[in-house]
Amino acid sequence: MEKFEYSSGTPEVGIVPRAPHAGPLLRHVYEQEHGRGGFAGKVTHTYHLYPPTNWLAGETRALEADAFAPRWDAPMRPMGGTHHLLNVLAPDAPRDVYRGMTRLVANATVAMNVTAPAAPMESFFEHHSATLVYFVHQGGGTLETMFGPIEFGTGDFLIVPKGVTHRFELAPGPQYYWVYESFAGDPEKSEAPTTGQFLTHSRSDYRFPRTLDTRNEAGRFEIVSKVDEVYTRRVHPTHPFDVVGWRGDYLPYKFAVEDVRPLVADRSHVPPSGHTIFKLPGCYLCVFTVRSVEKEGMWLPFFHRNLDYLETLGYHFGDFFSGGGVVQAGMMTLHPVGLPHGPKPAALKKFLDGRDPAVHDEVAIMADLANPTRISEHALGLSRPDYMAAWGAYTSDPRFTHRPGRLAEVRALAERHAGARDALRPKGGE
Ligand SMILES: [Fe+2]
Repeated sequence: MEKFEYSSGTPEVGIVPRAPHAGPLLRHVYEQEHGRGGFAGKVTHTYHLYPPTNWLAGETRALEADAFAPRWDAPMRPMGGTHHLLNVLAPDAPRDVYRGMTRLVANATVAMNVTAPAAPMESFFEHHSATLVYFVHQGGGTLETMFGPIEFGTGDFLIVPKGVTHRFELAPGPQYYWVYESFAGDPEKSEAPTTGQFLTHSRSDYRFPRTLDTRNEAGRFEIVSKVDEVYTRRVHPTHPFDVVGWRGDYLPYKFAVEDVRPLVADRSHVPPSGHTIFKLPGCYLCVFTVRSVEKEGMWLPFFHRNLDYLETLGYHFGDFFSGGGVVQAGMMTLHPVGLPHGPKPAALKKFLDGRDPAVHDEVAIMADLANPTRISEHALGLSRPDYMAAWGAYTSDPRFTHRPGRLAEVRALAERHAGARDALRPKGGE
């Protein structure tokens, strides 16, 4: 024993050699490298009881995509210039997490899906084309992985890196997940010099598996892999979680939405970039969570057009102040690139009248996908025909419609407020 304890500085669990590819242990266990970037990027090594390629060669076969996951690789069409509010998905039959995966929108590097699993997985799964980011809107269970199990519940993000063998074990009750597929890179924590490392969350909020559940089991273990639209089943004679140890930084993890500690500003409106938690190639992911209301300035989103991104907003919990009463939990809005949107009339009236709430009591998950983004037939099937009318009072409420004296009124108001300043400003020797 050494006098003091030391860490290797790299996460590790269980039985591992002193260094990758080195030492006498490699004559007793089987090392496997999970390497990104052509073995020049993130990497983890797993140490197995049995060779990872011990498949039963005659049993490998491609599955019929239409039969395995008929709604995942869906035909896509251009978004067009219409806002959409998508109803909650109600599956026609109980399917597992992957077999019921339903694609909503996608660009070249990211796809956004929804799944409402109600059946156990019969196989293990590996996504060979994308890292998966789950947001658990409803439900829970255990994500079983080669690196150990991760227990999850409502409000958790789950990150399942590309290629990791895994399986969902569902707890009883309804399950509803939004699922983001990143084809060109793993999610990176969003940081800016203005916020540092610990706003709006810290890396120490991530929960990586540390309990190995090593299985020394013989049988028939099916793994389904996905590469683009091709699903392939292979069968191994030993359990894929025969890992006795691992070391590396390429890992699955969970992250609770309640650990987002939002950026707030008293005198202005924090833009979405201030609420971004993850960046993916071609996408950024934001969390709008419970936070105090701005004391001065806009506490509503201003009217805006996002000129380079489609905005998807999943409503998780709360009163959704910008939804104008038409949005309920579990729904998702799609606001296409360039098309103006912003507060619904009821919300804007509250702001104009100075009826400021103390707290934004909401949680919503926004993923914005770089243009061009396309929409699936399945998403169009969930789209409510009345959503464009959510802004309808702007054409019917006399407060917002044309008045001959409007220009003169605004000119007079501008003159009256010309010297007005925020109350919270520094006042010096006044
Ligand atoms: Fe927006």
